[in-house]
Amino acid sequence: MLLEIPHVLGPGDLRRVRETLAQVPFIDGRASAGAAARQVKHNEEAAPDDARIRRLNEIVMGNLVRHPWFQHAALPHRVASPFYARYAPGMTYGDHVDDPIMGPAQGRYRTDVSITVFLSAPDDYEGGELVIHTQFGPRTVKLPGGHAVLYPASSRHHVAPVTRGERLVAVTWVQSLVRDPAKRELLWELGRARDRLLAKAPEAEETRQVDKSYVNLLRMWVEL
Ligand code: NI
Repeated sequence: MLLEIPHVLGPGDLRRVRETLAQVPFIDGRASAGAAARQVKHNEEAAPDDARIRRLNEIVMGNLVRHPWFQHAALPHRVASPFYARYAPGMTYGDHVDDPIMGPAQGRYRTDVSITVFLSAPDDYEGGELVIHTQFGPRTVKLPGGHAVLYPASSRHHVAPVTRGERLVAVTWVQSLVRDPAKRELLWELGRARDRLLAKAPEAEETRQVDKSYVNLLRMWVEL
C-alpha cells in the first residue's frame, strides 16, 4: 500500500524546519548508504550529530507519530530518527531498495515501512519526483511541503534528477508491529471503518463485530 498523508507539518513547523536546514552543514549522502545504494545515491544529508537536528527531529517525528493515519497505517513498533536529504540540480537517487536493517549496533531495527516527508514546495524545484514501483506499475509522488508518503520498504524506488531549484525531504523508517504489508493494508482499511462506526453508531451490533474483528486480528498478527 502506498499512502499519502496530508498536513503532517503545519505552516509554522514547516517554516522552522526549512530555516534550520538552511543553517546546518550538509555532507555527502553516500556516507549513510549501504553497499548497493551507494552506487546510485547522489544527494546531500544534514550532518546528524548537529544539536539543531535533534530539535528538528522532535518537530518532524513528533508531528508524524501523532498523526492518526500514520498510527493506523504503519502500526509502529520502532521509529527511526529521520535523515534530512537535499538535492541540488543534477542530484538524483537511482533505483534501489532500502536496507533491511538499520540503526546502531545497540538499537537495530528492521525496516518495514519507508516514509518521505516533503519539505520543499513543489514549485521550488523541477524534477525530483519520488518514483515507487508497485505491483500496478510505477507511481510518481511529488507532494506539497509538509505532506508525507508511506510505502513498503521492500519496494524498489528512485528519485528523479532535480533539474532546477532545491528538493528538501525528511526520510525515515518504521519497524512495524505487523510485518506483512498485505496484513497492514487490511488492518488500515478495517481500522478506518471501525473508527467511523465507533463515531457514528457506537452502540450498534455491527460496530461491536467490526471492533472485535479489528482488535483480535491485530492481536493475532502483532509481533513484539
Ligand atoms: Ni530509498
